[in-house]
Amino acid sequence: MSRLQDFLPELSEYKLDSKNILSLFKQEPMRLSRFVIEEGPLRFDGSKQALSTAGLDALLSLAAKMDLNGWRARFFAGEAINTSEDRAVLHPALRGVSGSPEVKAAVAAMREHMRSFANKIRSEGQFKSIVHIGIGGSDLGPRLVADGFAASQTQALELRFAENVDGASINDALDGLDAQTTLVVVVSKSFTTQETRMNAETARAWLKQSLGDKAGAHFIAVTANRNGAEDFDIPADQIFDFWDWVGGRYSVWSAVGLSLQIAYGPDAFDDFLKGAARMDRHFRDQPLGENIPVIMAMIGIWNRNMLGYESLAVIPYARRLRKFSAFLQQLEMESNGKEITRGGHDAGVTCPVIWGDEGTNGQHAFFQWLHQGPKGAPVDFVAVLHDHEARPDHHQALLANCFAQSEALMCGKSEDTVRAELEAANWAADKVSIIAPQKTFKGNRPSSTITLTELSPFALGHLIALYEHKVFVQGVMWGVNSFDQWGVELGKVLAKTILTEMKAGAVGDHDPSTAALMALAAQTSPRP
Ligand code: F6P
Repeated sequence: MSRLQDFLPELSEYKLDSKNILSLFKQEPMRLSRFVIEEGPLRFDGSKQALSTAGLDALLSLAAKMDLNGWRARFFAGEAINTSEDRAVLHPALRGVSGSPEVKAAVAAMREHMRSFANKIRSEGQFKSIVHIGIGGSDLGPRLVADGFAASQTQALELRFAENVDGASINDALDGLDAQTTLVVVVSKSFTTQETRMNAETARAWLKQSLGDKAGAHFIAVTANRNGAEDFDIPADQIFDFWDWVGGRYSVWSAVGLSLQIAYGPDAFDDFLKGAARMDRHFRDQPLGENIPVIMAMIGIWNRNMLGYESLAVIPYARRLRKFSAFLQQLEMESNGKEITRGGHDAGVTCPVIWGDEGTNGQHAFFQWLHQGPKGAPVDFVAVLHDHEARPDHHQALLANCFAQSEALMCGKSEDTVRAELEAANWAADKVSIIAPQKTFKGNRPSSTITLTELSPFALGHLIALYEHKVFVQGVMWGVNSFDQWGVELGKVLAKTILTEMKAGAVGDHDPSTAALMALAAQTSPRP
């Protein structure tokens, strides 16, 4: 199997011609048309990356050598590309774009079940609030999308989330709610997740306290492990299924989105799926060089493997997308945060750290590091052109800030300019030579800008599916299986052992640091 690291030396020559981003615009008059791609409501602009057109072409040839076309075809054909778990990866089937006739029938039945259930809850009016319990992929997607829908959709029921095993999470979610009017939706693909089961138990006890035997009717499960949910005493007709071919972090399109359907309505959810389907078709059908997820993936590989950037900041200039970087942390880092290839070899350098926060807030926190830190990090800026808040002055300022940041990162401000400014302001010469370097922006810091015409459910689905496919392409390039997550297991097993020991008031066989922490907790925390 070809490995990316074996090919990297071939790319070295393009580092030289990609050295200065601003001069790339002069050298390449067609740069904008090559690096800007529009698809539906989304426009991707990768022209402010430190990558020449020739470098991009070399990366695309490499992608062809790594059989990206073949992997893409196998993905959409529903082959078992999650090789370590021998499963197909069919989240596009949830959007109607892949899947066998049986899969399509099962998805259609699930969508109908969700639609009629959501409509029933919405029309009956008994429930006023939903408490959505889940963690990781059973939480981050629904949370992000709930916020995103709020930009343009009317919310019929209040939607709260409880994810963390920290009692504060479920306490906050239940605080002030009336059990009579609360529906609890427990979402867990495995139905074995400690946090979710514990929060579900607490929520059920809370319902029972007020409703007694009637509590069961307020309790819904969404899972790929029906038996697990039934063992948890959830009646069969209150369980919504999904399938093992949907990864947790790719599952918001399935019944995992039930709370969204209830709160915002099935039509909004359908539009969300349609937006993703449009991106699926773009990814499936467009040649690699005109394919946004592929171009984004190539840029990411370039920044990580050739330029040595260790992280990627994703900064949505849209409050309603403020959970986007947290969502992407799981999507990208749980998918591609791996050092071993599918074939069991060293994968070399893979997934960067993904981080970020909403703009403009980040400007007043970590942007200093982005502009003047020793190396900084590439940034994905995400902006929404339409003003959903009926505050045109705020919106213009928001966009102006977004565009200014990418310009500042790229153009910088030379020491000569700073010196001239200080001298013009009559600063003493010795002070100028100390301060000028500190006020200098070296610039040449790469970024991409994604704009959405509006933050509709359609556009949001489109955006999320874009990143899903980017992650897939990068997984192919790095040679890792993007669809398993063995790295989360060890901590879970150890937590179970430690909890058992803590319950028994014992400290078993642990390293001295862990044993001391357990002893400390035994002294200071009350046992339940
Ligand atoms: O611990 C990681 C993980 O398995 C994620 O992959 C998943 O999204 C999350 O836990 C929650 O899992 P579940 O939906 O099975 O409760």
